[in-house]
Amino acid sequence: MPKPVRKIVFPVAGLGTRFLPATKVVPKEMLPVVDKPLIQYAVEEALEAGIDQFIFVTGRGKHAIEDHFDHAYELEQTLAEKNKHDFLEEIGRTVPKAGNIAFTRQQKPKGLGHAIWCARNFIGDEPFAISLPDMLVDANPSCLKQMVEVYNETGGNVIAVEQCAPEDTNKYGVIAPGAVDGRTLEVTGLVEKPDPSEAPSNLFVLGRYILTPKVFEYLDKQKPGAGGEIQLTDSMASLIGEQPFHALAYEGVSYDCGDKVGFLKANVALSLKREDMAGRVREALAELGLKS
Ligand code: UTP
Repeated sequence: MPKPVRKIVFPVAGLGTRFLPATKVVPKEMLPVVDKPLIQYAVEEALEAGIDQFIFVTGRGKHAIEDHFDHAYELEQTLAEKNKHDFLEEIGRTVPKAGNIAFTRQQKPKGLGHAIWCARNFIGDEPFAISLPDMLVDANPSCLKQMVEVYNETGGNVIAVEQCAPEDTNKYGVIAPGAVDGRTLEVTGLVEKPDPSEAPSNLFVLGRYILTPKVFEYLDKQKPGAGGEIQLTDSMASLIGEQPFHALAYEGVSYDCGDKVGFLKANVALSLKREDMAGRVREALAELGLKS
């Protein structure tokens, strides 16, 4: 059995420009889907996979994330006085075990690869997961849990993939698939945002990774790639052939909540799954002339 995955990095230093002005003061990861911030979905997904050491790579203006995962004494006291015990319990659940959460800063948004590199000293010599919280994944078991199960069999590196429309490959990191075993595919190549005419497949990397610490050796020396940013894809690609590298076509649905329409879609889809809301949401959609 390979070393267990206990740590996860959440890169949250991006500027969230597609959501301005909402993200001028509020971090994108704090935008709520139904009634929970995006970052909390990501943390709960990791916990379900047995991963409980969290490293946040933050930037300026991200204090709300730190506060969200801490006690809010005044609020807790007021809720207790008003006998609102359900809410009290709910907000208490967001606070991780003391010492299991760390924050480091990416001083300049130089790209996802650079953000992950900023977490290197917290990871040390262990395998670790990465989750991009603006990609909300609705899956049961959670996407990361499905990945950990594969990792426990294969070791090495495991990334989650999903199919995109063939004309959309230039929006994502895309894999070149090798041997297929059920939902698990060998990865023989990785390309960042390939033109549809040159894409090796339409299987895109959706923002969930389990990597070995060897990736830091490549990130250490990496120069900016596509878009002038230090891409994670380039360093991951260097691991192919050196270590086992698999992709999991996970079972579930993802919502790109970094995009306005994806975010709205996630809100509608997840509220329709809520017993306490579904009826009223259906009525509201019908009033707008929409079917659900
Ligand atoms: P995005 O490409 O979605 O960028 O980053 P963004 O800045 O968050 O949003 P837009 O495009 O300006 O609207 C994907 C993930 O990588 C992180 C982001 O926080 C997000 O989780 N990231 C990106 C960093 O942490 N640092 C970077 O330099 C770039």
